[in-house]
Amino acid sequence: MAPPAPSHPARSAAVGEEIARLRREIEHHEYLYYVLDQPEITDAEYDRLIARLKQLEARHPELVTPESPTQRVGGKPREGFVKVRHSSAMLSLDNAYSEDELRDFDRRVRDLTAAEALDYVAELKLDGLSLAVHYADGKFARAITRGDGQEGEDVTENARTIRSLPLRLQAAAPPGLLEARGEVILTRAGFERANREREEQNLPPFANPRNAAAGSLRVLDPRITESRGLIFFAYQLLASGRPAGRRQWDDLEALAQLGFKVNPRRRQCRSLEEVLAFIREWDVKRHTLPYETDGIVIKVDEVALQQKLGWTAKAPRWAIAYKYAAQQASTTVLDIGVNVGRTGALTPVAFLAPVEVGGVTVSRATLHNEDEIARLGLQIGDEVLVERSGDVIPKVVRVEKPGPERRPFVMPAHCPVCGTRAVRQPGEAAWRCVNTDCPARLKESVLHFAGRRVMNIDSLGDALVSQLVDRGLVRSVSDLYTLTKDQLLSLERMGDKSATKLLRNIDASRAASLDRVINGLGIPFVGERTAAILARHFGLLDRLLAASVEELERAEEVGPRVAESIRSFFAEPRNQALVERLRQAGLRLEQEPTRTGGPLQGMAFVLTGALAGMSREEATEKIEAAGGKVTGSVSKKTRYLVAGVEPGSKLEKAKQLGVEVLDEAGLLRLLSH
Ligand code: IVH
Repeated sequence: MAPPAPSHPARSAAVGEEIARLRREIEHHEYLYYVLDQPEITDAEYDRLIARLKQLEARHPELVTPESPTQRVGGKPREGFVKVRHSSAMLSLDNAYSEDELRDFDRRVRDLTAAEALDYVAELKLDGLSLAVHYADGKFARAITRGDGQEGEDVTENARTIRSLPLRLQAAAPPGLLEARGEVILTRAGFERANREREEQNLPPFANPRNAAAGSLRVLDPRITESRGLIFFAYQLLASGRPAGRRQWDDLEALAQLGFKVNPRRRQCRSLEEVLAFIREWDVKRHTLPYETDGIVIKVDEVALQQKLGWTAKAPRWAIAYKYAAQQASTTVLDIGVNVGRTGALTPVAFLAPVEVGGVTVSRATLHNEDEIARLGLQIGDEVLVERSGDVIPKVVRVEKPGPERRPFVMPAHCPVCGTRAVRQPGEAAWRCVNTDCPARLKESVLHFAGRRVMNIDSLGDALVSQLVDRGLVRSVSDLYTLTKDQLLSLERMGDKSATKLLRNIDASRAASLDRVINGLGIPFVGERTAAILARHFGLLDRLLAASVEELERAEEVGPRVAESIRSFFAEPRNQALVERLRQAGLRLEQEPTRTGGPLQGMAFVLTGALAGMSREEATEKIEAAGGKVTGSVSKKTRYLVAGVEPGSKLEKAKQLGVEVLDEAGLLRLLSH
């Protein structure tokens, strides 16, 4: 039983101290995890700290500050971005494509500076988008995209969700104003996840991690930014728009000291030869990094020399970007096959005459869909240019030369795996196999279900799932829960130890939270994010199962198409049976119970407009923590409408129905009762 909210001054001081201590502790662990990649506690321990802090803050809304670790995912979706001027121009860099061009650069620098000793700093050039971040009195104040270099867009609320970006600097006496510039990137894994999400929502995929990072930062809803897991690497430290220290190298160190993530792959070089060695070294090693690097940035280390060199209209004369050669190669398309995905989408794949691209042999490339093949004008037998970036599946850039005996590819009318007819719905790019029992679809479904961000069943990979499905041991994801050790031992390459481990992992997944289970069901258009919203809104899987389209649309962000998709999924008897089997297997089909007996017990709230001191999500959490409920639309059952700035049509509706309207202060008063 939670202690009652203190009214006593001594007790509230104690709460203030506990909150401060929790925040320091959480910041420390976020730093270890997101900046240094060296966590010291488990996710569950971290979650407990956050939960405790949220609980205290919900009871003491007056103690919430914008820098609190709970306030990362804050801001409401906005209408657009405000343009802001940079403290000094955010220019681009000139490029060099060969060692000779770098020697020219080195010569120019030496001529212009007439310096006797000249050091360079070599840094990885990460492929994302640049961002300027301002701190006032050590607190995160504002984030601005590069824009046209003079003026960028204020993306503060979105940038706040980037966990590697400190909300408070690690300094006893931080300077009044300070600016860090750096690159916002997405890892390759994050890029692929973002594209899977887009595929589920029938949106065109991002072409590369850079576009995905830009698309994730420049969205109107900060919650989308948050879900993408962006990373900020700092590479410039400015005070009043100028380098803060005397050397770039020292500024990088200072940034790291302040708590920023600074790429450890950097080198202070005494000569151009050392720079070239660094470049050659990373040309090979960069492919092992979890994110993409398209080159090396070389900067004159000493700031006094930088100033002597100055700038052209476009770029500094004291720095240059060496670009690694694009990873492309020509080869022949031997054939085009079709891959069947989890949603039944038939994806054409080009089988290529094996060719080396950037040190890796490539023999397949995705072609996305039949429209893409038409756009490329591609036929089987053609010579094409293929491109590979990092671990991303290689793609065909263009047709170089039509093959002498080329033949057009025709999308099959039937699923190549199960033979069921394929259907292309109006407005969709993909043809789909409509057989929900299709083994190819089943394999993909099981892999999705087991995924790390879904039911998190470790060690259930591709090869294993294929065997389980092909041998008929798994006909549905629920069969995972009835697998026996003997069955597993009958599989190829499966020893006692691995079998035990797999069974243990499967067993552990029974405790997965409701949002993961909903995501795991593989309902079209319902990904991780929507699943979380549904879990929170409905609380019980049975309620979701029984919900009408209108009830579904009442959940945040659920539009007619998603609602329709959920409805028809659960209308299928086979899917109802699946839910039953999962229940039998002991999965948790309900959300963690929310506290009962709070001051708002049984009251339904609707939120509209922007609140000044908290985001909608936070308001929701606070109301729920006090026993209330937040719904999406006003009805006679609504107890209060909380109206912020620029309320929508909900306010009209509330007035019509005679529902009581509260402002933010009114809500806070209710919460503190
Ligand atoms: S320094 C005036 N350092 O590359 C100095 N830029 O092609 C400007 N970039 O706009 C930037 N990694 O977005 C710098 N270590 C690094 C970088 C880097 C990536 C990006 C940055 C810049 C672009 C220029």
